[in-house]
Amino acid sequence: MRTCAVVLAAGLGKRMKSATPKVIHNLMGKPIVTYAVEAVKAVEGVSKVVLVIGRHSEDKLTSIFKDDPMVSFAWQEKLLGTADAVKSGLNALNGEQFDYTLVMTADAPLIRAETLQGLIDRHISGGNDVTVLSFVTLNPSAYGRIKRNPNGTVKCIIENPDATEEERLIDEVNSGIYVLSKDALPLLDKIQINAKKGEYYLTDIVSIANDNGLKVEAVRQMDEDEFLGINSRQELLYALTALKLRINRHWMDEGVTLMDENTTLIAPSITAIGRDTIIYPNVIIEGNTTIGEGCTIYPNVRIVNSSIERNVVIKDSTLIEDSTIQEGAAVGPFAHLRPGSVIGKKAKVGNFVEIKKSTLGFNTKASHLSYIGDAEVGDNVNIGAGTITCNYDGVNKFKTVIEDGVFIGSDSQLVAPVKIGKGAFIGAGSTITQDVQEGSLAISRVRQRTILDWVKSKFTLNKQ
Ligand code: UD1
Ligand code: CA
Repeated sequence: MRTCAVVLAAGLGKRMKSATPKVIHNLMGKPIVTYAVEAVKAVEGVSKVVLVIGRHSEDKLTSIFKDDPMVSFAWQEKLLGTADAVKSGLNALNGEQFDYTLVMTADAPLIRAETLQGLIDRHISGGNDVTVLSFVTLNPSAYGRIKRNPNGTVKCIIENPDATEEERLIDEVNSGIYVLSKDALPLLDKIQINAKKGEYYLTDIVSIANDNGLKVEAVRQMDEDEFLGINSRQELLYALTALKLRINRHWMDEGVTLMDENTTLIAPSITAIGRDTIIYPNVIIEGNTTIGEGCTIYPNVRIVNSSIERNVVIKDSTLIEDSTIQEGAAVGPFAHLRPGSVIGKKAKVGNFVEIKKSTLGFNTKASHLSYIGDAEVGDNVNIGAGTITCNYDGVNKFKTVIEDGVFIGSDSQLVAPVKIGKGAFIGAGSTITQDVQEGSLAISRVRQRTILDWVKSKFTLNKQ
């Protein structure tokens, strides 16, 4: 049993008022079209996905799927309607035959793979030739109406402009998702152009199949949100909201505490958040991020492509990108971990600290106002407030090595390349330009001078 999925994506999407093709717009970190493609790929028996695209969007769409061996492309030269789009898709198969064709719109990202699976299972078990997925909605005006016979079987689909007043009251509508058996495909050629719109309507296949004695069924689904088609920015936001809640509720079911399901954004790409992790409002978790058990993530934190191990605390307003935070460490508030940072077990990165491409060892602390870039910092190091690794001379980047147990006094500059040996001390306010040997004290500030009674004498002088 072989199934081909034809995903229709040639429409213009004018209502988005955008320079970007509609189905490429970002929805929680991925282009809209990838949701439909992933859903059809997850259906049992689907071995090929044909994406039907228009000339206006070809480069942008093909580049998204260029590394996916299951996806191929078909061009619809003129946008002559949904039936013409399906025919364009089938033509691109070059005679390859499939038992079933699953037709799906590219702009319905909330569809679940299970729903498509249920549709195709029903199509097969019912011995159908054409199966349409329908749903009931309070606001049917944007959709084709499912017209049923008195015995409940489906008669035809009527598009809104062609519907009578009475037909417009029908609240069961066409999702735009269908399964067609091999025997039903020749019917596509029998579809006549719709005079009003000058398009070939795929929906007409229902009445034509009936007229030709084929078996047609409309399968009704309950969750209206799954079929939301994105045509405008408002619908894009609506889809985002629905998807966000679906994902957040999933994580709560998995044992994660959320303080606010409306302002927490967890991308669909996230596969691991450990139990008993607590997430405060306004937290965004994106990309290839994993979070361990028992973490606390305070408000206004964004984590991108990072690995957060268990029992980590991330305090308010912190940005973490392409980094690793090991077990029991604490980061923030107002910290920025830039790509390539590794924060060791039980380490602490505090207020207004920026770290780039650096490793901090076990129990090392950089608690306030520091920049640490291109550095390798050992275990049990204390980095005083205002410490800066001067890693850039305007042309090249250099490395700073700080070995285990070092104490760096506040407001020090470490001019790289430089190495501070094990257990060494750096006096506060030092500018370190040479390596410091293990166990030594380096101090480079000007010795203090105190002029007694200077203020009084100056004050008296000025008065005269
Ligand atoms: C279509 C259905 C309608 C259904 C609704 C569900 C028809 C005639 N109507 O209406 O019954 O309720 O979807 O959302 O089929 N496309 C192409 N090439 C074309 C035209 C469209 O690829 O020439 C693609 C679009 O990119 C889109 C999909 O087909 O992904 C549906 O087209 P659209 O114009 O949005 O159809 P609707 O008017 O929404
Ligand atoms: Ca549509």
